Amino acid sequence: MSKRPLNVGLIGGGKGAFIVQPHQKAIFFDGTRRVTAAALFPEPKVALEEAANWPYPLKGYGSYDDMLAANASLPEDQKLDYVVIVTPNHVHYDPAMKALKAGIAVFCEKPLCMNLKEATDLVKAVRKYEVPFGVAHTYLGHWTTRFSRYIVQAGLLGEVRWVDSCYLQGWLATKLEATGQMQAAWRTDPKLAGGSGCGGDIGTHALMQLRYVTGLEVVELSGHLEAFVEGRPLDDHFTTYCKLSNGGKALVRASQICIGRKNDLELNVAGTKGSLRWRQEEPESITIHLANQPDRVYWRGAVAAGDGFLPKEVPAALLAEPTIPAGHPEGFHDAYARLHRCFEADVRKWEAGEPFKCDGAKYANVEDGWTGIAFIETALRSTKSKGAWKPMPKPI
Ligand SMILES: NC(=O)c1ccc[n+]([C@@H]2O[C@H](COP(=O)([O-])OP(=O)(O)OC[C@H]3O[C@@H](n4cnc5c(N)ncnc54)[C@H](O)[C@@H]3O)[C@@H](O)[C@H]2O)c1
Repeated sequence: MSKRPLNVGLIGGGKGAFIVQPHQKAIFFDGTRRVTAAALFPEPKVALEEAANWPYPLKGYGSYDDMLAANASLPEDQKLDYVVIVTPNHVHYDPAMKALKAGIAVFCEKPLCMNLKEATDLVKAVRKYEVPFGVAHTYLGHWTTRFSRYIVQAGLLGEVRWVDSCYLQGWLATKLEATGQMQAAWRTDPKLAGGSGCGGDIGTHALMQLRYVTGLEVVELSGHLEAFVEGRPLDDHFTTYCKLSNGGKALVRASQICIGRKNDLELNVAGTKGSLRWRQEEPESITIHLANQPDRVYWRGAVAAGDGFLPKEVPAALLAEPTIPAGHPEGFHDAYARLHRCFEADVRKWEAGEPFKCDGAKYANVEDGWTGIAFIETALRSTKSKGAWKPMPKPI
């Protein structure tokens, strides 16, 4: 297998953009991936200027169409191995589809796209072209999320009865979009964000966290999408009461009007033998609650198998996944890096003609992206029927 660092192309990310920054750090994190090209802005002139002034050398293009078209004629060692899509939601589908058709792997920001029709087309294209595709559900990249998944899916908490997956923010408690603030402006515009504001932006993270950790699916839901800030056309407060595939129940909820709350994503899983609590703002540990026992706090990297709760055999691959010793905190960037690292492994296998998985075990895949969009659309349909229970569409 080639040792050359993978070449990554950025789609979006210029002029004060947010999420390109963590992605860049995550791409360079291991020295095995690097950003080599970018289409940073919708206006070609600005895109080229931004690239010329980028803090490190990269090949700038006026548009992602140009970048994808130019790729075919580049020498082998300069070709893009994957692109990262960090544009607002309405510019996910088109570059993703074009990259797939050009045979370039895609790591796309969430939510996957604008609606279920686009999501379905993308699932079909990924299957047709057999190209690696990941969706950037950041919080799956925390080691403690991986560990939580192991604990729940190994049955250590018994049968899951109830899950509360909740993402609280406060930054849209006022009409920030009226000030022209870039991130607020597109997130509150249905033409740019999609049918749900808060739900699409962070409700999809809450759903993904639940699904990844428990392995359960939402099969039916009662949705309540609300806008507390006057005149806002999309929800800033998103609540769904859900029936789960094992007969359990869940709240999947998110809010952007909780003043003072930052990125407070919390997952609580209640099983017949015990409960688990995970928080993204303190992602170095999880807490396990067992009846009539002191709480157990497990820190990343400081876990002993056979301790009376964990079995003697904890998967070695899981224990090996932290990058730095316990007590040197990992955070948001490390989580993104873990996702890119795992995506890189699949891209390298694909390029070597070996089987690759993209099965959702290490990062969210296109089907997970599809499920996020299906969830949002079901919540919207339920809201229109005053919260009536609505079934989730059958997976494709
Ligand atoms: N996974 C996470 O934790 C997380 C966090 C924040 C944002 N996101 C997602 O990332 C995406 C971007 O969000 P953001 O907050 O960084 O947005 P942003 O507004 O800060 O940045 C978007 C960038 O895309 C550029 N852009 C727009 N249209 C373009 C085009 N046609 N060609 C090239 N560039 C174009 C903009 O100029 C800007 O540079 C969204 O889909 C959002 O939901 C995910």
